[in-house]
Amino acid sequence: MPESIAAAVARRRTFAIISHPDAGKTTLTEKLLLFGGAIQLAGEVKAKKDRIQTRSDWMKIERERGISVVTSVMTFEYGDHVYNLLDTPGHEDFADDTYRTLTAVDAAVMVIDAAKGIEPRTLKLFEVCRLRDIPIVTFVNKMDREARNPFEILDEVEQKLALDTAPITWPIGQGKSFCGTYHLAKSAVRGSDTQRDLTPVNGPEASQAAGQLPENERETFIEECGLAAEACQPFDLAAFREGHLTPVFFGSALKNFGVRDLIDALGAYAPPPRDQVADTRTVEATDEKMTAFVFKIQANMDPNHRDRIAFVRVCSGKLQRGMKARLARTGKQMGLSAPQFFFASQRQLADTAFAGDVVGIPNHGSLRIGDTLTEGESLVFQGVPNFAPEILRRVRLGDAMKAKKLKEALQQMAEEGVVQLFTPEDGSPAIVGVVGALQLDVLKERLNNEYGLPVDFEMARFSVCRWITAPDKAELENFIDRHRGDIARDLDGDPVFLAADGFSLNYEAERYPGIKMIAIKEYH
Ligand code: G4P
Repeated sequence: MPESIAAAVARRRTFAIISHPDAGKTTLTEKLLLFGGAIQLAGEVKAKKDRIQTRSDWMKIERERGISVVTSVMTFEYGDHVYNLLDTPGHEDFADDTYRTLTAVDAAVMVIDAAKGIEPRTLKLFEVCRLRDIPIVTFVNKMDREARNPFEILDEVEQKLALDTAPITWPIGQGKSFCGTYHLAKSAVRGSDTQRDLTPVNGPEASQAAGQLPENERETFIEECGLAAEACQPFDLAAFREGHLTPVFFGSALKNFGVRDLIDALGAYAPPPRDQVADTRTVEATDEKMTAFVFKIQANMDPNHRDRIAFVRVCSGKLQRGMKARLARTGKQMGLSAPQFFFASQRQLADTAFAGDVVGIPNHGSLRIGDTLTEGESLVFQGVPNFAPEILRRVRLGDAMKAKKLKEALQQMAEEGVVQLFTPEDGSPAIVGVVGALQLDVLKERLNNEYGLPVDFEMARFSVCRWITAPDKAELENFIDRHRGDIARDLDGDPVFLAADGFSLNYEAERYPGIKMIAIKEYH
C-alpha cells in the first residue's frame, strides 16, 4: 500500500551540520552516510579504501568548482526515519549560500571540536539558526584527543550562545582512554558505533562503563556522571523544538563513537517537516497539494550532465515525477519530468517526494532562487534571504563586442545566486555584488570557462548598498529621482541605493527618514 502523506512526513528529518572548519563536519557526514547505509545503497563503499575514494570524489567536484561551493543534499534511511542532510559550503565567503540552505532545514547539528569549543564560524551560523528558531543538536567531536572537561564545554555553550544544554550522553574517558558513551537517562552504554543498540548497566558506579577505564580515571568519571545527572538540565523536548535548549552528545566521528547516539537523537527529537509560511497562508506539511520552494541553483554540477539544477525543498503534498507545477513568479506551468534525489555523489530519478525532501530539478534557466512551485495555487513562500553584498565591483570586459553575451551570463550567474547583479538606472555598466571575495574568483573562472568571457573587476565608486522601500510610493519616487546616479535595480527590478561608504549611507538615511534601507531582502 502506498504510504500516506502524513506517515511519510512524520518519518522525515531534514537537517544541516553547522561548524567551524576542521571541527569534523566532513568526517561526521561520511559516518552518518555510512551508518545510514547511503553509501552502500549507492553501491560505492565495499572496503575502507573505497570509502576514501568516495570522499575524494566529492572533493574533486569541489576542487573543480574552485572551493567547496556545492551545496548538495544527501538522503539516507536509518531505522524508521528518512534523513535529508543538506550540505553547506565550508568557506565563509559563501555564507549567503549557507544561510539560504538553512532556510530549507528543520534542525541543525552543531559540531564542536572538544579542544577548541565554540569557534567564530560556529557562533555566526548558530546566530542564523537562532533567527529562525531552528532546533540544534550538539555533537562534541574529537573526544579521542586531548579535550576540555565536558562541564567546561557545556558551560561555554551556555555562556557564548545563551542556549541551555542537556547532556544526553557522557564521554567514558577522553583522549587515549576514550572508549564509549554513557547514556545518562537510560543508564546504558555504547562501546562504539559498531554496537547498534545500547547496553543497559546498573548506574555508572556499577557499570562496565567505569570498569573499562584505567583505574585512576574511574572515580572522576563516576563523579562527573553523578554531577551531570544532578546539576544539568533534564532534556525538555518542547524547549529543544523552540530553540532554547540543545541536547549534547559526545563522540569521535573519526574513531566511530557517538555517531549512532546522534542519529538516534535526530530520529527521536528533531522535528518532522515544519509548516511553512507563505504570503497568503501557512502551508501544513501534511497538506494534500504539492508546494515547494527553490533555495539553491547549481549549474553544471557534474561534467557529464551539463545542466542547471534547482534544489527545491518540498513543503507539502507529493511531488511526483511527470507532474505539472505552477511557477508562482511567472504563473507559468512547468513539467517536472526528471526530478532527482541525491545519494552521496550519485543521483537517481525521484518518483515521489514528500515534505522535507529535497529534489533537484533540471532546467534551462526557468527556475530562480526563492521561486515557489505549487499545483496551481497562487502563493509565495517567504523567507529565503538575500544579503546586501559587502563588495561591489564593475565588470570589465576585454572585448566590447561581447557585451550582450556578458549581460546574459551575469543574469544567469545572479539567478544561480553566485553573485548579485545591479543594473544602474543611469545606464552605466552593471555592478556585481558579493559577500565574500572568493565569490568573485568563482565568477571570473566560470565566465571564462563556461561562457568564454575573460573579465576583470574594477572598483566601483560605491562600497555599500541597501534595498530601498517606503510606505509612501511618492516619497520613494522622489528619493530615486534625486539620487538617479546612485540607484540601481536588482534582478527582480527592485530599487537599490548605492553609497560610497557607510557614512554617506547613514547621512542619506537620516535625511530621508521615510525611506527604509534594507540589508536583508527576502526573496519574493
Ligand atoms: P571539516 O569538514 O569540519 O573541515 O573537518 P574534517 O571532517 O575534514 O576534519 C578535519 C580533520 O579532523 C581531519 O583530519 C579529520 O580526520 C580530523 N577529525 C575529524 N573528526 C575527528 C575525530 O573525531 N577525532 C580525531 N582525532 N580527528 C578527527 P585530516 O583530514 O587528517 O587532516 P588534518 O587536518 O589532520 O591534517
